[in-house]
Amino acid sequence: MKKILCIGAGYVGGPTMAVIADKCPQYTVTVVDINEKRIAAWNSDDLPIYEPGLDEVVKRCRGKNLFYSTDVAKGIKEADIIFVSVNTPTKTFGAGAGRAADLQYLEKTARSIIEHADSDKIVVEKSTLPVRTAQAMSRILHSNTRGLKFQIISNPEFLAEGTAINDLMDPDRVLIGGLETEEGKKAINEIVEIYANWVPRERIITTNLWSSELTKLVSNALLAQRVSSVNSISALCEKTEANINEVTAAAGRDTRIGAKFLKASIGFGGSCFKKDILNLVYLCGYYGLPEVAEYWEQVIKMNEFQSRRFVGNMLAAMFNTVADKKIAILGFAFKADTGDTRESPAISVCRQLLEERARLRIHDPKALENAQLDLEDAAGDITYCEDPYEAVKGAHAIAVMTDWKCFKELDFKRIYESMEKPAFLFDGRNLLDVDEMYGIGFNVYPIGKKAKTHF
Ligand SMILES: NC(=O)c1ccc[n+]([C@@H]2O[C@H](COP(=O)([O-])OP(=O)(O)OC[C@H]3O[C@@H](n4cnc5c(N)ncnc54)[C@H](O)[C@@H]3O)[C@@H](O)[C@H]2O)c1
Repeated sequence: MKKILCIGAGYVGGPTMAVIADKCPQYTVTVVDINEKRIAAWNSDDLPIYEPGLDEVVKRCRGKNLFYSTDVAKGIKEADIIFVSVNTPTKTFGAGAGRAADLQYLEKTARSIIEHADSDKIVVEKSTLPVRTAQAMSRILHSNTRGLKFQIISNPEFLAEGTAINDLMDPDRVLIGGLETEEGKKAINEIVEIYANWVPRERIITTNLWSSELTKLVSNALLAQRVSSVNSISALCEKTEANINEVTAAAGRDTRIGAKFLKASIGFGGSCFKKDILNLVYLCGYYGLPEVAEYWEQVIKMNEFQSRRFVGNMLAAMFNTVADKKIAILGFAFKADTGDTRESPAISVCRQLLEERARLRIHDPKALENAQLDLEDAAGDITYCEDPYEAVKGAHAIAVMTDWKCFKELDFKRIYESMEKPAFLFDGRNLLDVDEMYGIGFNVYPIGKKAKTHF
């Protein structure tokens, strides 16, 4: 029985390995992490992350051919194939701070591999990395003094949080990059064999190492760019009475453009988009391409502009002051169906509102714990509410930050009645029906559409 190890039991390592174990009963899959609390949670009924469908997959395999453990050394010793899925955040210190990827966790992982390995292995980069990281990885691994050989493979993960299990079970493509040598090709095939257990062969793409590493950064950059492009136009729509939904629906009918991922919003969040673009920007600067770097940096600037613009609109609508006013924040996760709040636009909106001395009542069905951590250092009046009706009671305004479906099912008549008047509704996700909300009595401010007010 072949043994797969994954180092890093986070949002990627946890679900990805659960699906591999589920689809490949002939492999033993172990996921290790230095975070004991996280591993204990993976071994409990209360998994450390929320993803629709994840519980069922883990329950089916855990204890059979799927194991979560803190014993990194044993895992490395026993494994034939090691996936590395550790975090690669933006550097916060030293050269490249605020842009370059912080590769310390990756390097530490490589060093533990050479410390504990006693046979040749395939090492798979699952983390998102700057292009040419595999070269550094290979040099570290081959600095071992025991003559051990390692093949480095790049297999970036394209799952989206909130739909991770579905994305893993039925991916648009799986990308596997390796060296164009005989050993490299053999290693690529070993990884292809894993995915071929459930992914049709034509969706398994093999490339050289550098293309694979770069493709992950480019995919996220293109997705984020689409969000920023639409959001930039949403600002123009609000000035001109064009309607962003009508514009994107008509533009998206062109098959070259495509209809997906054209929704205007408060902006993108998540641990990846910003970090990966910053990484791309840094790389372009490093390779002497400042114009290319500047071009991509604009995607992030537009995203920051959108959240400032949102708060600016709130202030302007509420008579230029929110000081002492209660504002209900509906949603804190960076998107629906996840408890993840990393880089969520809600963080920036809440901080801006607190600076304006607003009193915040925050509700999210899955992300309240993370919200508290994110705003731990923020001064001001914040209450975290399990019940959405408690959050809105006596509020002057509601700001919808996350597109949770359950928000659509709330009783907005009851909500309106419990609020201060005039009651404002700022919909950062265009989730709610403008006419219906206006009919109830709200002054409604969607994104990229004319506001509908009773004034
Ligand atoms: N979150 C996503 O949606 C997503 C999607 C695609 C790719 N990625 C990429 O995947 C990688 C992992 O992302 P994530 O969201 O799972 O991160 P995460 O922070 O949730 O998980 C990373 C885990 O690695 C562990 N770790 C760090 N150093 C370690 C070491 N030396 N030994 C053992 N464990 C160690 C940490 O304790 C942590 O639990 C990142 O490079 C990210 O860019 C993330």
